[in-house]
Amino acid sequence: MGKKGKAAARERREQRRQEVTLLRAVPYELRQRWWDGLAPARAVAVVTGANRGIGYEISRQLALHGLHVILASRDASRGQEAVESLLREAAESGDTSVDVEWQQLDVTDAASVEAFAAWTARTHGGIHVLVNNAGVNFNRGADNSVEFAEQVIETNYFGTKRMIEAMTPLFKPSLYGGRIVNVSSRLGRADGRRNRIGDAILKEKLLTDDCLSEELIDGMVMKFLEQVKQDSWSSIEWPQMYTDYSISKLAVNTYTRLVARRLSDRPEGEKIYINCFCPGWVKTAMTGWEGNISAEEGADTAVWLALLPQEEATIGKFFAERREISF
Ligand SMILES: NC(=O)c1ccc[n+]([C@@H]2O[C@H](COP(=O)([O-])OP(=O)(O)OC[C@H]3O[C@@H](n4cnc5c(N)ncnc54)[C@H](OP(=O)(O)O)[C@@H]3O)[C@@H](O)[C@H]2O)c1
Repeated sequence: MGKKGKAAARERREQRRQEVTLLRAVPYELRQRWWDGLAPARAVAVVTGANRGIGYEISRQLALHGLHVILASRDASRGQEAVESLLREAAESGDTSVDVEWQQLDVTDAASVEAFAAWTARTHGGIHVLVNNAGVNFNRGADNSVEFAEQVIETNYFGTKRMIEAMTPLFKPSLYGGRIVNVSSRLGRADGRRNRIGDAILKEKLLTDDCLSEELIDGMVMKFLEQVKQDSWSSIEWPQMYTDYSISKLAVNTYTRLVARRLSDRPEGEKIYINCFCPGWVKTAMTGWEGNISAEEGADTAVWLALLPQEEATIGKFFAERREISF
């Protein structure tokens, strides 16, 4: 075979590899239908805080995989613009299958979450995928202010918890299994390299499955917020870097493990796989566009976890770059 022939063969192999990767990422039921030559059924995915950044990218990639995406945002015009932008991009590339719609959702507002859940049940009868992405962080560089600690914990931890409570009953029965993906951070590790919780007894409890409870996690964040109010908190007891944000993500990670335990005995056909992941240091508004990867790359592990074939799906684990990492 000449040089040209070899290059063409290499190109064909690469194309096949990409097609297989794409196909493997599509939910089993959809793949079955494609193989049967039927029109693909739409799995329904909810992505919170999806008007920009990593959430926008997760929405885009899930839609390209053929899911119906509910792009949720707290602000109507920002969310509607995001949907228009996704539809415009799809139309320009000749892709008529992209299916995205907007719905209002402020994860810190219980009434908004309730209205969102009711609308989803009424309109779609349920969901297959929930990505809890909405989040805030007010620290940058070497800052470690706790001025917005309440908003950070209310959004990142209680917002995620509120969504899981409201949406779990809406998961549609499916042999493929429902998916909950919590967007977290390595900063929320209990015993990380750069950041760890100073209180040794609390750390031990947080890392021991038998000690996990809502009281433990809520108690931890409430204790910190109380100390912030009293101005008595110290970074010796708590994570040293971006303390409020790190505690909120530590709570998300621990809550992921707790919910995983609760969900793990659901019968076949009603299984829900919940995991959390760190997207890396991503160039978004949150980091002031600093970082070493794009939002597109940051979204990758979320989409992978949401679509992983059932036989490979895990529950209650923490991931980064598609690999399991320690809590
Ligand atoms: N960027 C990173 O390096 C990095 C690293 C680790 C983890 N993460 C996590 O990745 C997720 C996405 O962050 P990002 O980097 O894409 O930041 P981003 O561009 O600032 O996006 C955050 C999104 O969350 C939304 N949001 C904030 N508060 C909300 C609320 N109360 N209700 C609903 N939506 C709300 C924002 O909406 P508005 O436009 O209305 O503000 C925005 O759409 C966050 O959970 C973050 O903690 C990011």
